Order: sequence, then structure tokens, then C-alpha cells
Amino acid sequence: NTKLIAVDPKNIDMNKIKQASEILRNGGLVAFPTETVYGLGADALNGEASRKIYEAKGRPSDNPLIIHIAEMNSLEFLVGEVNEDARILMEKFWPGPLTLIFKKTDRVPYSTTGGLETVAVRMPSHPVAIALIRDSGICIAAPSANTSGKPSPTKASHVLEDLNGRIDMVIDGGDVGIGLESTIVDMTGNVPVILRPGYVTREMMETVIGKVETDEQAKGASDDFRPRAPGMKYRHYAPKAELILVKGDAGHVSEKINELAKDEESQGKKVGIIATTEMERGYHYGTVITIGSRSDRETIARNLYSVLREFDNTDVETIYCEAIEGDNLGQAIMNRLKKASSNHIIQLDNDGEIEEQT
Ligand code: TXA
Ligand code: MG
Repeated sequence: NTKLIAVDPKNIDMNKIKQASEILRNGGLVAFPTETVYGLGADALNGEASRKIYEAKGRPSDNPLIIHIAEMNSLEFLVGEVNEDARILMEKFWPGPLTLIFKKTDRVPYSTTGGLETVAVRMPSHPVAIALIRDSGICIAAPSANTSGKPSPTKASHVLEDLNGRIDMVIDGGDVGIGLESTIVDMTGNVPVILRPGYVTREMMETVIGKVETDEQAKGASDDFRPRAPGMKYRHYAPKAELILVKGDAGHVSEKINELAKDEESQGKKVGIIATTEMERGYHYGTVITIGSRSDRETIARNLYSVLREFDNTDVETIYCEAIEGDNLGQAIMNRLKKASSNHIIQLDNDGEIEEQT
């Protein structure tokens, strides 16, 4: 059975952390909070332990894990060459929601890297995560602590919904702060490439290093070619219901969603709507859940996965969601929404009519 323990991030009980460390050192699985989402941890250098992660999540074995460290010294152990750009990014954004990809050393087992010669590393800033890594004395491999394909967990209860009975322990450290997974940047080429957008944006990185590119696939534009972050090729973050994004002028969007929702209800279907605070009172059909203000991307990011999970607890068959602008954090939000909807987007023209549907 899965043991649940609560640890207050502001007043960490080291006796509880020690119980978790013991499990990790013995090759077991512990879910723990990070500043982005909850992670499912195992000893990264123990191939047998990291294989258990794939089993518990139902994760395809070619989808590599991120290794979490608490000290800069641990890096030498895991990675080969670290270039100047990488040094600057680590200096500026670690500890924090940024994952960097390097060539791996022989110490890192292929079961942790999904067979790749490269390895993803990040230093989280959440005090519980840091305490656990330090106390256990190991590098912790941790994907998001959800069943593969489901929205990532932003609360301990989400982890239990998915993994109760399949892992040894969950550390409940409260709700996470950011709510979207870390930005992933490939540092193995001449120019850093963003493979997954997140809280640390391209603009933020470009103010401290030179040019940073964004992988086409990470923009959510197309699924046609092999993505460079293997995990991004799978249907992801997806609620049970069909999710449809509606894009265009905000007023037109809410009008169109009302029209579509009304139509479906008249056919006896159950409809859900993900609304921004500005628009919520304009919806008259279906189950409406508010995600946050259009002008407050951080709140939308923090609420996104838990709103998708809320709809999983209803019998809604279709969910309409207002699309938002894809700048900065908006780009990370839209990347997750596009994946969750399998790129199902209704684009409105200037008159509010459907221009294109994918
Ligand atoms: O915020 C986060 O990054 C969270 C917390 C727990 O740290 N973790 C997380 O892990 O989101 P996961 O496994 O859900 O996503 C890891 C992503 C996958 O898309 C995977 O393909 C990519 O990182 N990845 C890992 N190692 C890679 C590598 N060597 N090359 C390319 N992509 C890699
Ligand atoms: Mg994940």
C-alpha cells in the first residue's frame, strides 16, 4: 500500500524525510512535490529502480526521465561537457523550473535515459524536493507523478488518484506553485533549443545568453516529425472528455462556445466549458469552470491541470476552452492545451465565424 505523509515546506520534519530517503535508497518509489508539478522519484543511477517508474506510470520505455539534483557537484557525475551557455543558464535559473539536456556519462543507466546518450538534469527549488535529494544522498530520477497520458499532478491527491497502491510513498507538501512542467532546453548543439516551453521563457534566457531556438514541435504546430523530446510525441495532459480549443477575439469566442454548447446540449450531450474570469458570466450552457484571469497567466498555469482533472470527475463528454495568446508563459499554456486537445482547434475569423477547424 502507498503511505501518505504530510510535510510542511515551511517547517520540514526531517524524521519524515528520512523515511522517504530510506525507501529511495532501497530502490523504491516516492512521489514528492516540486515547484512545477509532483514528481515520482527513484534512484536515478539504479536501473532497476528507474524501471519501476515506467511500470507504475504505464510509461513507454523510450521516454526518458529527468534527473533531479540538489548540488552543483552532482552534475560532474552525470554529464559530459558543460558549455558556457549552460553554465550561465544554471547560474541564473537554478534552482528552478529549468531542465537542461547534456551528453550523459557511463554512470547513468540507459533505463533512466530511455536508451539515449543524453541526459536531462534539473535542480528544483521546492524545499521538500531539495531536502529529500540532500538527505537521501542520491540523484533522483522523476517524471511527473501521474498515470502516463493524464494531466500532471499539482496536488498530492492527484498523485493518489492515479498511483495509489502502485508506489511506496507520497509526500504531501501542499499545492505546487507553478503548475506546469519545467522548461526543457537541449544544450548539446551549437544553439540551445527549447524542447518543451515552461515558466522559464525564451525571452528570459535570451537576456542572459545569445540566441535560443524553439523546436517546431514544442510550438505545438505539428506532430508530423519525430520530436526531440521523446515524451512530447504522446497524447498528453489529456482529460477523458474531448477537449476543443476556440481561438479568436475573446467576445466572439464566448459567443461561439455558447452556440456550440447549446447545440450539443439540445442533442442530449453533456458539455463543459473552461472559462476565463472575464468571460465566465457570459456562458449559459454546460458546466462552467473558471481557470483565472486572461491578464494573469500564472494563475491560469497553476489551475490548468486541476481544472482538467475536475472535469474527469464529471460525466462531461466535450469540453470547450478559450485559447489565449501564445506569448511567454502563454506559449507554455497553449503547448499543454494543444497536446491535451490533440490539436483540436476552432479558429474564428474577424466576424466570429468559423474560419478553420483542425
Ligand atoms: O517539471 C518537471 O520537469 C517535472 C518535475 C517532476 O520535475 N518532471 C517532468 O518529467 O515533467 P516528465 O517525465 O513528465 O517529462 C520529461 C520530459 C519528457 O518529455 C522527456 O521526453 C523529456 O523530458 N526528456 C527527458 N530526457 C530527455 C533527453 N535526454 N532528451 C530529450 N528529451 C528528454
Ligand atoms: Mg509527464
